[in-house]
Amino acid sequence: MSKGTGSHAGDDYNGYDDGGDGGGGGDDGMLDGPAPGEAFENMLEPKLHHRRRREMADGFKKNKVVNEVLDKPTVMTLYRMITEGILSGVNGSVSAGKESLVFWGLGPTGADVALKIYLVSTSNFKRRQAYMEGDPRFASVRKGTRNMVYLWARKEFRNLTQCAEAGIPVPRPIHVANNVLAMEFIGAGHAPDSDRGARGRPAAQLLHWPVDYDDYRGALSMLRDMYAKANLVHGDYSEYNIFKVHGRGLVVFDLGSAVDRRHPNARMLLQRDINNITRFFEKKGVSVDDTGRVMEEITSS
Ligand SMILES: Nc1ncnc2c1ncn2[C@@H]1O[C@H](COP(=O)(O)OP(=O)(O)OP(=O)(O)O)[C@@H](O)[C@H]1O
Ligand SMILES: [Mg+2]
Repeated sequence: MSKGTGSHAGDDYNGYDDGGDGGGGGDDGMLDGPAPGEAFENMLEPKLHHRRRREMADGFKKNKVVNEVLDKPTVMTLYRMITEGILSGVNGSVSAGKESLVFWGLGPTGADVALKIYLVSTSNFKRRQAYMEGDPRFASVRKGTRNMVYLWARKEFRNLTQCAEAGIPVPRPIHVANNVLAMEFIGAGHAPDSDRGARGRPAAQLLHWPVDYDDYRGALSMLRDMYAKANLVHGDYSEYNIFKVHGRGLVVFDLGSAVDRRHPNARMLLQRDINNITRFFEKKGVSVDDTGRVMEEITSS
């Protein structure tokens, strides 16, 4: 991905992400639009539901963020989710990465929802294809960029579902439509940075917390459970893609890259996930186990 530590860039590179900086554009890349908490004027406008399509599209055009950041089909997808009662509104942006934007939305009863919107751009086409081909769950992929992006969103939704069903702590998947994935919003709660306590702020990722041996074992145990119980390899496992939540512990997210265990590169990706997370804990002074042995432990479980 775009930014990050770069400490391992190039490791085992073969068309896959370098991993480890999955949160690259993360929470430091706010959109040029409303701050979290500010509503999309038009999307929350109840009268909108009664307007005709043409008028509605014009209404959306007045919204700076919608107009400049999201393309029309994406706006239509969000609008449909509102009319279908999956969302009651969309608040401000939470994060702007190279491949996705994350918004803070509201569910029908006002609960916080995270909306991950995959950007439809050609730049990541090749990278995504490498994760898709070889995954038997996605054997017949229809070509075309937009299709691939939609499929990638469905892939993350399915990965989240498999994990949730296996009891692995992930944001609970809610809905996927085209390039929009709705999931449970993992909020700040009591994070080390008190500024993150406000509603609509995501929990802090592992890299922002003091960590200890329990966190290390916890992070490995999530990898093992993903492999053994959900039949998945994360593929982009790092301190950027794990939330630490007060009272709840570790929550793994950003599962778009996760592949089925049967993927021909699953073992390579798993070893790299282990290496990346081990490197992080080692850097933090936690005494870590041999990465080869961890790999054996996980794959024989
Ligand atoms: N379920 C969620 N609840 C709250 N915040 C979330 C959730 N999912 C993602 N976020 C926020 O959005 C950021 C980016 O999400 P994610 O890592 O899934 O996307 P990405 O495609 O890897 O984007 P990036 O390029 O920014 O890493 C996260 O670091 C987090 O701050
Ligand atoms: Mg990420």
